[in-house]
Amino acid sequence: MPAILTCFEAGCRSKYPIDEIIYTCPRCGGLLEVVYEGDAPDSSALKRLWRERRMSNAPLDQSGVWRYRELIPFLDDPAHVVTLREGDTPILDAPAAARFSGLDRIAFKHQGFNPTGSFKDNGMTCGASQARRLGMQRVACVSTGNTSASMAAYASAGGLQPIVLIPHGNISYGKLAQALEYGARTLQVEANFDQILALVRILAERLGIYLLNSINPFRIEGQKSIVIEMMDQRDWSAPDWIVLPGGNLGNTSAFGKALRELKSLGFIDRIPRLAVVQAEGAAPFYNFMAERTAFRSVEHPKTLATAIKIGDPVSWPKALLEVTNSGGVVEKVSEQEIADAKAIIGQCGIGCEPASAATLAGIRKLTAAGTIAADADVVAVLTGNVLKDPDYIYRYHTGELQSPDGSLIRSTFGNKPVLVPNDADAIARVLGN
Ligand code: F0G
Repeated sequence: MPAILTCFEAGCRSKYPIDEIIYTCPRCGGLLEVVYEGDAPDSSALKRLWRERRMSNAPLDQSGVWRYRELIPFLDDPAHVVTLREGDTPILDAPAAARFSGLDRIAFKHQGFNPTGSFKDNGMTCGASQARRLGMQRVACVSTGNTSASMAAYASAGGLQPIVLIPHGNISYGKLAQALEYGARTLQVEANFDQILALVRILAERLGIYLLNSINPFRIEGQKSIVIEMMDQRDWSAPDWIVLPGGNLGNTSAFGKALRELKSLGFIDRIPRLAVVQAEGAAPFYNFMAERTAFRSVEHPKTLATAIKIGDPVSWPKALLEVTNSGGVVEKVSEQEIADAKAIIGQCGIGCEPASAATLAGIRKLTAAGTIAADADVVAVLTGNVLKDPDYIYRYHTGELQSPDGSLIRSTFGNKPVLVPNDADAIARVLGN
């Protein structure tokens, strides 16, 4: 199927060749999306083919992104693909989390099982592959941590030079460590995410570096696979709700696009409602949906869930369309709610990073408000691995976790380590024997 870069703005819809190096519409400045033209594929045949590929040892078939390549057919040559066997992430039942949130049952699709520990890998395999197709040598991104970790890995694996710009002092060490280990030229900038995104867009153009932020439409194509794989794992039965955290809103855009395409091609018979959850101190999309006035950014976003500490999300126009089209909602949650929900996900033996736990915290509020019914079929997407931010975990469990406003977060489900002497009797007493 021919792929075309198309302006997302309804009043423009200008088209550009798929190999043009642009990130926004040169005519109107709108966001771009990849649109496919040509005959619709046979959905039943593809469902069978994708199942068969699970038995295959070919790298593209083993990838939980490229297995579904018929729905992301923007590359002309598979030799350009950079894959670390991303995707293939499980859907896990979590009864204790269901009880906590007021649902009869809940399932987590855990993107933290990816090669670099976050959902960014689903998109980065596509972004890095497109960079190779375009013959780029250097790639760059600004990141709250996960995008940079993922980009560093995929660029290095694909023979490209990764350049990472991060807000100084505002990303977790786990993520910074990954960027360094995967060989990224790493610049810690004394500015916040939104300011650095403006910088990196100028630098990419000036220095001929390929930009791999989620404004890059090819990353969005890859992130569609999270939803495609989810439906495949559920034997193509759509849930009532898909819940995800919202930061720059690239993932919300990708999920909505995937759902619209799956529905229009006959893979699913209805579109689940999207629930996007933001942290209270970084909730411009929540505010916008609640007020329904002009979109206003949050100048000084604040949250310990640093992955979603974003005040001026670039993809909000796409996210608006997708949330509206799905009959979805946007919720916001406090630092305390995120921290407690995260501990519950940990107690299920699953675990995730703080931003991911915003989902469960948001579901709890939405069920309490009657927006999500107790017997609804809900899949929450955990976006990042528990080991991304161990410092946060230790502080929570030891009662030392401080909100951005300086207040202490209650260690509601705390699990403090106990210091014991080198003495069997003393240890037995502690263990209650
Ligand atoms: N969850 C995690 C763990 C993230 O890293 C991010 C975004 C999000 C949720 C929000 O997704 O931006 O598509 O709405 N992290 C980006 C980064 C911004 O730089 O790693 P979104």
